[in-house]
Amino acid sequence: MRTSVIVREVGLRDGLQLVPTFLGTAQKIEWCCADARAGVREIEVTSFVPEKIIPQFADAVAVAEAAKAIDGLTVAALVPNFKGAARAMDCGVDKANYVLSASEEHNRANVRRTTEESLADFERIVAERNARGVGTKIVGGIATTFGCTLQGEVPAARVYEIAERLAAGGADELVVADTVGYANPAQVRRIFGRLTEIFKGPIYAHFHDTRGLGLANVVAAVDAGITRFDASLGGLGGCPFAPGASGNIDMEDCVFLLESMGFDTGIDIDALIALRAEVQTWLPNERLVGSVAKAGLPKTYKPKQPQAA
Ligand code: COA
Ligand code: ZN
Repeated sequence: MRTSVIVREVGLRDGLQLVPTFLGTAQKIEWCCADARAGVREIEVTSFVPEKIIPQFADAVAVAEAAKAIDGLTVAALVPNFKGAARAMDCGVDKANYVLSASEEHNRANVRRTTEESLADFERIVAERNARGVGTKIVGGIATTFGCTLQGEVPAARVYEIAERLAAGGADELVVADTVGYANPAQVRRIFGRLTEIFKGPIYAHFHDTRGLGLANVVAAVDAGITRFDASLGGLGGCPFAPGASGNIDMEDCVFLLESMGFDTGIDIDALIALRAEVQTWLPNERLVGSVAKAGLPKTYKPKQPQAA
């Protein structure tokens, strides 16, 4: 029996938020559909932020509603505050990924308030979801968990405290993010190990490959018991309010890593590579990264091999 893991596409959110040219709504929807055909089961499809702040997401409602029509797909969307969460719930998304930062300075730069204010807003969002009686999962996202380009050090104790507060506040899931690519595998093993003790629901690991340690961190997170990962097609990505942030881990490489180790992602890498080529034609000015798409799959690659002992 192979252990099932989730690789969630975040290219349509994290990837596109730094892309200055507007990608058409029809292409975003085609991206979601092609991902789903490739076997991707979950996508963070958009971000419910003010259009004035990130014009790329002016079509958030249209993209979220179209994604909801894709059979079997779990549709997540980023929300930075109560208003964003309400808009996401109006569209019936499956998950509202609420973002706050363990770094006080990044929280102020990104969502213009203190982390404490963000935590209070999180509780209001959970209360609103409960009052509406809808099925939207409210997800606590912790950004800058492993360090911050603005503040520098982020104490692990603060990360644990925030995770405890999110758990007590009713988070259905957590996303734990290395927003700026500071994490190393030893730190990942330690921090995710502790987080799995604090929070018993699903935890997603969200790595950026800014300093080349993204996939090593995936392996370390697997060692800590994590089976859910964010990744983006062609490694697009980065936070516009975190100086020096660059792309997420490359999705094709991440799927290759996990499948090669014997995990079951359900994703067809060749289909991802074909989609990546199409996305590159839509975004000709974006430099896509990733190794498998360039080198090709090895002859020895067997996607459905039993898990290594
Ligand atoms: N969606 C749409 N409109 C929103 C909104 C949302 N989620 N949140 C606020 N607004 C509107 C308000 O209604 C108000 O509109 P008005 O000027 O017409 O009255 C305006 O935006 C300002 O609202 P305010 O609550 O004062 O927001 P702010 O200026 O303090 O900004 C955030 C706070 C959270 C909205 C902003 O910092 C933000 O979008 N941050 C997210 C950044 C991001 O996406 N980072 C990358 C992902 S990690
Ligand atoms: Zn990110």
